[in-house]
Amino acid sequence: MSAGAVGYARENAARFLEELKTLLRIPSVSTTPEHKGDVEKAAEWVAAELKRIGMENVDVIRSAGHPLVYADWLHATGKPTVLCYAHYDVQPPDPLDEWVTPPFEPTERNGNLYARGAVDDKGQLVLQVKALESLLKKDGKLPVNVRVIYEGEEEVGGERIAAFVREHPDRLKADFALISDTELFAPELPTLTVGLRGMIYTELEVRGAKTDLHSGMYGGAAPNPFVALAQIIAGLKDREGKILIPGFYDDVKAPSADEVAAWKKLPFDEEEYREKEVGASKLVGEKGYSALARTWVRPTLDVHGIVGGFIGAGAKTVIPAKATAKVSMRLVPDMTPEKSFRQYKEYVEKIKPEAVSVEVRLIHSGEPIVIGTDNPYVKAATKALKKVWGKDTVFIRSGGSIPIVGDFEKHLKIPSVMMGFGLPDDGLHAPNEKFHIANFHRGIESLIEFFDEAGSL
Ligand code: BES
Ligand code: MN
Ligand code: MN
Repeated sequence: MSAGAVGYARENAARFLEELKTLLRIPSVSTTPEHKGDVEKAAEWVAAELKRIGMENVDVIRSAGHPLVYADWLHATGKPTVLCYAHYDVQPPDPLDEWVTPPFEPTERNGNLYARGAVDDKGQLVLQVKALESLLKKDGKLPVNVRVIYEGEEEVGGERIAAFVREHPDRLKADFALISDTELFAPELPTLTVGLRGMIYTELEVRGAKTDLHSGMYGGAAPNPFVALAQIIAGLKDREGKILIPGFYDDVKAPSADEVAAWKKLPFDEEEYREKEVGASKLVGEKGYSALARTWVRPTLDVHGIVGGFIGAGAKTVIPAKATAKVSMRLVPDMTPEKSFRQYKEYVEKIKPEAVSVEVRLIHSGEPIVIGTDNPYVKAATKALKKVWGKDTVFIRSGGSIPIVGDFEKHLKIPSVMMGFGLPDDGLHAPNEKFHIANFHRGIESLIEFFDEAGSL
C-alpha cells in the first residue's frame, strides 16, 4: 500500500513547499517574448527535478515556441500507463500594483502561498512530481507506468504540444491521462472535472483613414475606428448575453437531465457567488440559465482589451487610423473552433460600418470537451479521493479551457481524469493568485493514493 509514500510526503512537506517556491520564482510568462529565457529556465528546472527523483528518459523537447518536458518510468509490467499533464508557464502578472507581495516572490499568508502560477499551474505540476518522488523514494518503484508531459505554452493556446501529440502519439502511449490543472468545486470537496469549454481567441483590427487625423479638422467626416469597433462589438451580443452571430448556437448540445440534476445538489449559492467571487452588483447572462449553466454549458463572448489611439495622460485630439480589439469566444460541445470562427468572421464583415475595413485574425483555438465518467480510472480516482478527503467526489464542468485535453482524446484515444486542487477564490490569472497550502499537501496524498488505486486495477 501507499502508507510509506504518504508518510514520506508528510515528513518532507516543508521541503516540498520550498521547492515549489523555487519554481515560482522563475517568471515563466509564456505570452511575452522578453520572458522566453525564463520559460526555458523553468523547463530546465522541471527536467532536473524529474531526473533527481528517478524518472527516466527525461527530455526537454525544443522546437519553435516553448519546450515540452517529457519523462517516463515504465517498469510496472502488466499495470496501466498514466500520462501526467500539467503546464509550467504562467499568465502575465499585471496589474502589478494590485499585488500585496510581488508575484514572483512567493509568500505565505494565512495558510496560502501567494505567487503568479501558485495554483495555475506550477503548484499542481509540482504536486504530481512530489507524488512520484514520494513513491519512488519510499518504495523504489511506481505502482503504475508513468509518462509525464509538461508544456510551457498552455496559456497561449498550446500549439506545440498539440503538434507533438498529433505527430508522435506513440511516444505518449498510455491508458489514461491525469490532468492536474483544475479546481475543487468548494473547499474540502473532492472534485473531478468532466467538461471544459473550448475557445477561439481573435483580434479585430479596424482601419479608417490612411493616417491619424486632427479630430477638429476631420471629425464628423472621417471614420473613427474606435467608434466602428464599438459598434461591431455591440452587435456581437445582445443585452441579455445572447450571441447574435447567425448559426452560432446550432451545434450546442444540452447537458443531460441527470447532469443538471446533479448540479442542483452542489453547494452553490448564486447570490454568494455574485457578491464574494464576482463582486459585481448583478450577474449577467442568458435568461433561463443558472450561473453554472451559463459558465459551463453555454458559449460566451468576451472582450479582453482594446488597443490603439492615445492612451497617455492628458488629452490629445486625434482620430486614430486604426483600432484593435482582442475578442474571444468560449465554445461548448458540439461546437467546433473552425465553424464558429467562420460564422464570426462572416458576421463581423457583414455588420462593420461601411467606411472602415476590418481584419479578423484567429490567434489560437481549442476544442470543447466532455468526458465520460464510466471508466475504471475515474473509479480509482474517486476511491483515492474518498480515502484522503473522507467524502464522495462531485463531478463538475468548468468554463475554462485546457486545449490539449481534446487532443488526448482525439489522437491518443484515451480518457482524461481531471483531478485538481485549486479553490474557486484562488485568483487564477488575477492579482494575488494563491494556492491553499493544505490543498497542495492533500493533493500530493491524493495522487499517491490514485496511482496506487490505478495500480491495482
Ligand atoms: N487551468 C486553466 C483552465 C481552467 C481554469 C480549468 C479553471 C479549470 C478551472 C488554464 O491554465 C487556462 O487558463 N486556460 C486558458 C486557455 C487558453 C489561453 C487557451 C483559459 O481557459 O483561458
Ligand atoms: Mn492552467
Ligand atoms: Mn491558466
